[in-house]
Amino acid sequence: MTGGNGQGKLSTDTFFYYRGSDLELNSIYDQHVESLVRTLALRDIETEAHTRRVSSAAQDLACIWGIPTDEIIHIRRGALLHDIGKIGVPDCILHKKDPLTDKERDLISQHPVIAYNLLFPVPYLRPALDIPLYHHEKWDGSGYPYQLKGNQIPVASRLFAIVDTWDALLSDRPYRPAWPVERTRDYIISQSGRSFEPDIVIAFLSGLDSQKSISFCPAETKSSCHTYSSRIDLFSNS
Ligand SMILES: [Fe+2]
Ligand SMILES: [Fe+2]
Repeated sequence: MTGGNGQGKLSTDTFFYYRGSDLELNSIYDQHVESLVRTLALRDIETEAHTRRVSSAAQDLACIWGIPTDEIIHIRRGALLHDIGKIGVPDCILHKKDPLTDKERDLISQHPVIAYNLLFPVPYLRPALDIPLYHHEKWDGSGYPYQLKGNQIPVASRLFAIVDTWDALLSDRPYRPAWPVERTRDYIISQSGRSFEPDIVIAFLSGLDSQKSISFCPAETKSSCHTYSSRIDLFSNS
């Protein structure tokens, strides 16, 4: 606080009784999310580029799927914060290159619940919680933490899961090199009805195929975008 003429003085009203427009309030919310994303990048929990790519693509897929425009912001925020729960997982487990023990796997599998507990106290983030809490649930009920099945899984998570898997497989990880596009595409198709909702697999691959509907390339990460040089021939091998 500077005092004097009052410039730079922080008022408690700024935080507890904000009286600006909705636009200004949303801008403050986005600044808060941005700060959290950078915190995750500092802990090297997910690469920042991956986080921004999946946020971009999840919003695009949500639009294709017909999610109402005023709900897309929650998809964006949930995607940006999808792995925030890993903040509660020790680095020695998070970055382990050798296979995880059962105990370590159990600990990592708690990250969706940790995310929920971290974000729930923040009212504006509650509508975005579906992705952090349910993004590891699988269509056939074999996911975690609740083994939800089919439409029990919130639609935001069903959409996000495929985008997240696609981008993760195309990225180098400490324990494996990036997969080529064709292998990744074949894997996504093989998981239709297992990990992913079949109709969403079709919508996703169709969106990629059209090369304009789904973009993993938000403006701020142009230099680290995944590009797909070959046209994806939907289900050609199935
Ligand atoms: Fe996760
Ligand atoms: Fe991810």
